[in-house]
Amino acid sequence: MNYYGVFGNPIAHSKSPLIHRLFAEQTGLQISYEPLLAPLDGFTAAVAEFFTQGSGANVTVPFKEQAFVLAEQLSERAQRAKAVNTLKKLADGRLLGDNTDGAGLVNDLLNNHVVLAGQKILILGAGGAVRGVLEPLLAQGPAEVCIVNRTVEKAEQLASEFADLGHMTAAGYDWIDTPVDIIINGTSASLSGDLPPLADSLIKAGDTVCYDMMYGKNTTVFNQWAQQQGAARTLDGLGMLVEQAAEAFYLWTGVRPNPTPVLQQLRAQL
Ligand code: ATR
Repeated sequence: MNYYGVFGNPIAHSKSPLIHRLFAEQTGLQISYEPLLAPLDGFTAAVAEFFTQGSGANVTVPFKEQAFVLAEQLSERAQRAKAVNTLKKLADGRLLGDNTDGAGLVNDLLNNHVVLAGQKILILGAGGAVRGVLEPLLAQGPAEVCIVNRTVEKAEQLASEFADLGHMTAAGYDWIDTPVDIIINGTSASLSGDLPPLADSLIKAGDTVCYDMMYGKNTTVFNQWAQQQGAARTLDGLGMLVEQAAEAFYLWTGVRPNPTPVLQQLRAQL
């Protein structure tokens, strides 16, 4: 039996144990996957103890940056993200840090037949959530990724950090009003039911696709706004959650699960 789990604080409401148990059932692999509550000041010790037995772990809020520091080897996308959401114990005992969030987003968009290559993408927010997805997003070859943030300096900083990977620009909310192909909301505004101050004209009715990295039982405020402006489609972050888990499961086991039925089951239980 291989042992896996997800570190966080709080962690009781994490959907990851259910997702990974469903993947295990589907693929016929015998694994254990548990929620792992680490003390806020005791993440490193908790990781060390877990990996005396464990093969791999996911890491969620507030430990992704600490996991990045702790990992002894890093994937390219984790280096770029400066955050780790997946740890894997290597054959030599060292811990590999990876970040599957961006692959989760990209795979979910591609599953939904959203074309990324050659498109103009606005990404809202310049915090950890956005940093975490930029490398895989740019790898799809969009024409331009514009980071839009309330604090413009943070958007400019991120844009310059990733400029070697693609055409990156930065803007404040009141600088932009011409329609774009795709808008991705990576702000934490949805958490408090807030909507970033977006110009309605950013959406070309019947054409623009909107993606909220948040999800909930009800349509998020951002997606409600997008629907009111006639967005071609609105997607939420539940698919990204399942896809980032699938990517971690694959990294650990070498087996790629089918996320579709798992996503359907999670959606039904929201
Ligand atoms: P996370 O790790 O989830 O990305 P974060 O690093 O705290 O969290 O970043 C939150 C992001 O959401 C920031 O880009 C923040 O904008 P500022 O950098 O200007 O603070 C953005 N954000 C939060 N609430 C917002 C709101 N009500 N409207 C617009 N942007 C908001």
